[in-house]
Parts: sequence; C-alpha cells; structure tokens
Amino acid sequence: MMLSRNDICWCGSGLKYKKCHLEFDEKLISLRNKGYITPNRKLIKSKKQIEGIRESAKINNGLLDLISENIREGMTTQEIDDLAYNYTVSNGGIPATLNYDGFPKSICTSINNEVCHGIPSKDVILKSGDIINVDATTIFNGYYSDASRMFMIGEVSEEAKKLVNVAKECLEIGLEAVKPWGFLGDIGASIQEYAESKGYSVVRDFGGHGVGLDIHEEPFVNHFGKRGTDMILVPGMVFTIEPMINAGSYEVFIDEDNGWTAITEDGSLSAQWEHTVLVTEEGVEVISR
Ligand code: MF3
Ligand code: CO
Ligand code: CO
Repeated sequence: MMLSRNDICWCGSGLKYKKCHLEFDEKLISLRNKGYITPNRKLIKSKKQIEGIRESAKINNGLLDLISENIREGMTTQEIDDLAYNYTVSNGGIPATLNYDGFPKSICTSINNEVCHGIPSKDVILKSGDIINVDATTIFNGYYSDASRMFMIGEVSEEAKKLVNVAKECLEIGLEAVKPWGFLGDIGASIQEYAESKGYSVVRDFGGHGVGLDIHEEPFVNHFGKRGTDMILVPGMVFTIEPMINAGSYEVFIDEDNGWTAITEDGSLSAQWEHTVLVTEEGVEVISR
C-alpha cells in the first residue's frame, strides 16, 4: 500500500507519514533496489510493541535472576522448571516453551555436552563440575522475550570455565556488531572469528531469531558467516543473539529418545548465552538485561 506524505504513518505512532517513517521507507526501498536484503514491515516493531516486549523481558529477567540465586548442586532440573513455571505464572506471564511444538517444559536446561533444548527432568540431578544453560522464554500480554545464561555448579574445571567465559564474550562481541543500517552477517562473522581464535567452534544448525510477537520470527541469526552479507539491520528490529560454542567440533545430533535435545557429536562441552536486543537509531539496546 502506498501512503501519501500526509497520511498517518503505518507504524502506529499516530504521526504523519512525512514526519515519521517516510525517509526510512525511501532508504529501505533504495537499498532493496540495489539488491540488499531488507526486513519487511512486520519485523519493525512499533513503540507500543517494544514497550510490551520490555515488560515481558522484565519477567524473563526476574526469572533468570531467581534461578541464579537458587540453582545448586543436588537440585534436579525439574525443580528449576518448577521455579520457572511458578514465577512466570504468578507474575502474569506464560512460559512460551511449554507445549510449544510439543516441548513439554517451561524452560530448556542443557548440561555439559548438551548444546540446547535440554528437557528438565526429575531424574537429572545437578552435580559439582556441571555447566548448565538455562534458557527462558516468556509471553506477557502477547509479547515474547527470550534469554539464557550459563551456571557453573560446585567446582568446575578450568577448561569448562574458559568455555563458559568465551561463550559470554562471543555474545558481547555479537552485541557490539549490531549497527543500525549495518549487516546481520557482521554479527556472525565477529562471533565466529573470536570463537575460532580461542580454538572453539560455532554451532551451525541453530541460531538466533526475530522475537517479540512470536517465539521465533525472521530473521534467522547465524553466529558464523561473512561481514557485509545477509539482512540490513534497521531501527525497530528485535531479535536474539545466542551463540552456541563447542569446545570441539560444531557438529551436533538430536537425542533420539526425546526428539529435542541437541548434543555435541564428539561429546565435547558446549556453552551458550542469549539476549534479546532492539536495534535503535544510535546502536543497540539489550532488552533482556
Ligand atoms: N528459548 C529457545 C530459543 O532460544 C526456544 C526453544 S524452543 C523449545 O529459541 F521448544 F525448544 F523450547
Ligand atoms: Co532462548
Ligand atoms: Co532464542
């Protein structure tokens, strides 16, 4: 639909098009005409939607804080899931993964050689030396937010600590690569460069994703790749960065018993941290912090 300069802008601001997204659209059209991949309007969140995603992230962050205060040796991953369900629901939220595509639990808990999508269980007891990723996704008022952190249980090997720290640095480096009117491919390229410089590999089969009105939206965010490629990032886009870093090779397989959990092919350790970010006029806002 073609808007006139004096029409109300499509973004929901209530402003005239010429005072709002007209220049923005012209810039996108010209980039598209030059052959660049540009986001469609669905991926550009309005002020109201961004506010909704921020509110959702408050609950999601509160949940991860609660887990960090309570997680300990001897606990089962089902107990963490119970904390997650109760906290989320008592704050008016819904755990987004619960029954999502048949996923049975409120969070993902991925331990040691598990890469992602580990399923909480009363039979899995945290033991000293474990490294675990807890990944939480919350729906509040229809808005989605998504973040994950690593936790180290008891006495952890130097090798495991280093992997956990480098994975965190990979996320930070990815955040720094987010630039309005920059390239999505710059995020993956900078993460891959850093991870490989430390002797680690970047998982290819899973990536970050647009988020906000649904659990997984476009674009797919690779954590490896080439600078100057992939979609142009523009203010209003909301997506996750969630690099999965393996101590060994990047190959993974899916646990046949549950159909969900990704595990390193060579049995090596894997670590992951995740944030939900908003591209702003100036740079990036980490919503899940
Ligand atoms: N929070 C996960 C992510 O980062 C969602 C996984 S979907 C599930 O994308 F069903 F596996 F939980
Ligand atoms: Co997640
Ligand atoms: Co995610």
